[in-house]
Amino acid sequence: MIFGKKGNISTLDDVLKSSWENLHNGVRNFRHPFYRPTLTTMNGNKPEARTVILREFSEIDRILICHCDARTPKVSQIRDNPNVSWLFYHPKKWIQLRFSGTASVHTDDKTAESQWKKVRLPNRINYCAEKPPGSPTEKPTSGLPSFLRDKAPKLLDHPEARKNFAAIVCRFDQMDWLLLKLTGNIRAKFHWKDNRIEASWVIP
Ligand SMILES: Cc1cc2nc3c(=O)[nH]c(=O)nc-3n(C[C@H](O)[C@H](O)[C@H](O)COP(=O)(O)O)c2cc1C
Repeated sequence: MIFGKKGNISTLDDVLKSSWENLHNGVRNFRHPFYRPTLTTMNGNKPEARTVILREFSEIDRILICHCDARTPKVSQIRDNPNVSWLFYHPKKWIQLRFSGTASVHTDDKTAESQWKKVRLPNRINYCAEKPPGSPTEKPTSGLPSFLRDKAPKLLDHPEARKNFAAIVCRFDQMDWLLLKLTGNIRAKFHWKDNRIEASWVIP
């Protein structure tokens, strides 16, 4: 057995079950470390990593979803090259999860609409900057229009916000699981090909 009493992991199937449980907890609970993964995209031949919030996870469809401003560089990077990776780390359980797969950007389809409905009003402020994220400015600023600054959250239900919203949906086909242990680290790899899965323990 790899884990003690709290989480019995003896098989590759147990690894998957505990990974899925951590990812579902990450979506539900903003205090869970899997709430804030790192998403890496390719900018030409240069990888670019950033923290995002995990908004949805499905092990059945093998998807990971985050939201962003449609004007951010990661959107055009994914449109140019859909290969992405996601990195999760749980500092108390000492577990790292790495996923790779392909992503798509949704701005005006059913997926975008259903994801937009899940964006709470106070969070809609993230899509209200007048200029695209990453635009240079003379002084430190949120870039929000003056009529929105310091206003009640309901004002944030602003039509411009919806226009700037995008959902990034990634379908993963590989997962690398690593558990750090004083008595020796343990690692497993999973590869989905069509609907088959190849799973194996590997040397860490
Ligand atoms: C805790 C945390 C959570 C974040 N969540 C998101 C997010 O869900 N979506 C997003 O686009 N940016 C998020 N950001 C900001 C990104 O890390 C990044 O700075 C921004 O999206 C610009 O990225 P880009 O220029 O590579 O597109 C978050 C940053 C932090 C620190």
